[in-house]
Amino acid sequence: MQKSIIVGLFILLTASVSSQVLAQEDLIEKRQKAMKNNSADVKAIKGAVESKDYATIETKAKDIMGTADKIPSLFPKGSNVGKTKAKPEIWEKSDEFAKEAKNLSKASSELASAAKSKDDAAIATKVKAVGEVCSSCHKQFRADKYSE
Ligand code: HEC
Repeated sequence: MQKSIIVGLFILLTASVSSQVLAQEDLIEKRQKAMKNNSADVKAIKGAVESKDYATIETKAKDIMGTADKIPSLFPKGSNVGKTKAKPEIWEKSDEFAKEAKNLSKASSELASAAKSKDDAAIATKVKAVGEVCSSCHKQFRADKYSE
């Protein structure tokens, strides 16, 4: 009787631990996909700047803004286990991390406005600003190698 309870508990526990690991893998994949999308947006923006395609610059800048607003929720505490480059500093200095996400939101929003007003000089400045936020956050919070 007691033994089967223990076995039952053990099965429950294992199931719950492995489903947590699975959920975490999904989340890591989701945020890496969001980041890859950021890169694709930046690339598209650079092309659109060349061809003065203001509508595309605006759309892609707004896409980056939408992602930026979600960044903190894509990095919940403890999600540094698995195939990830997330550094522990994300959670040790979570205010700084959130600030970088905010900076990206702000820079991409300003880029969208510059594109809307077809202001080439402002667009050039803001494209640079967006790129600088990406690098600044990566320098502090992204490891060179995956943890696995
Ligand atoms: C608030 C911090 C922050 C900002 C801002 C940020 N990133 Fe990231 N980025 C990260 C972290 C942390 C990782 C590592 C995620 C992981 O491996 O779990 C990452 C990973 C990436 C990756 C690799 C994804 C993969 O599959 O391993 C790319 C590409 C990337 N970022 C592009 C960008 C671009 C482009 C921007 C700017 C438009 C940007 N990021 C802005 C924190 C940030």
